[in-house]
Amino acid sequence: MSTFEAAFIGRNHIELKSIDSTNSYLSSRLQYERLPEFTSVSAWEQSNGKGQRKNVWESAPGANLTISYLFYPTALSLSHLFFLNKAIANAVLQTVSYFIPHGENKIKWPNDIVVNGRKICGILIENVLSAKGISQCIVGIGINVNQTEFEFAPHATSMALEIKKKVLVDTVRLALNFYLEQEYDFVLSQSFEKIQETYLENLYRKNEWTMYKTPEGNDLYGCISSVDSKGFLVMQTDNGEMKFANKEIVFISKNR
Ligand code: BTN
Repeated sequence: MSTFEAAFIGRNHIELKSIDSTNSYLSSRLQYERLPEFTSVSAWEQSNGKGQRKNVWESAPGANLTISYLFYPTALSLSHLFFLNKAIANAVLQTVSYFIPHGENKIKWPNDIVVNGRKICGILIENVLSAKGISQCIVGIGINVNQTEFEFAPHATSMALEIKKKVLVDTVRLALNFYLEQEYDFVLSQSFEKIQETYLENLYRKNEWTMYKTPEGNDLYGCISSVDSKGFLVMQTDNGEMKFANKEIVFISKNR
């Protein structure tokens, strides 16, 4: 599809048949060589796909996009690090929305993408920090494209499930390159307000009062109002405004 043309992202693309994890592949190669920025690596099959919190990322061979990108965001200060997460989530959201134009497509804090309340994409960002800032960033993205049954992820969905037809995985990759390039430009030009605006516009459950759980299992009634520059979820509650770091608050799924 010629609609999607990215000048830099994915220019150096490595396509693997089978690997444990595309994130691990990039980080091992980076141990002994400096790969060009914007290198991407995708795999037809991952035998040990890595998810957040040491979870395994489930993906049927050949069905989905499992890809990692390499960035060297050395100009980004540590205080702005979370804008990189937000920009990437924005890019994936736009990719998903291109293929599922009529879905309720949202960014679930910190950076999952959900369609009609079900997870369609996971993002795993692994940064290497140095005294000067962020020296290397591996962005792993798994988008469910054509998988229609999920053994370990009962709340998952895919493009095929949502639009009732198959999508070419490589077309999704080209679209993702395109949107990532656009959003990464905002990071480089320090257009943080623009990044924040798109992120908040698409934030799952923003301005909705609903029930959450604390990690201890207590109920908490609250309303998400923002995500601050450090990445904390900002929530209004009966006891005033509260802020949460990742894993400090649990979303309760409405899908059974
Ligand atoms: C999550 O748990 O939501 C994050 C999932 C990230 C999965 C992707 S698939 C491509 C890349 N390689 C990995 O091993 N993980 C990421």
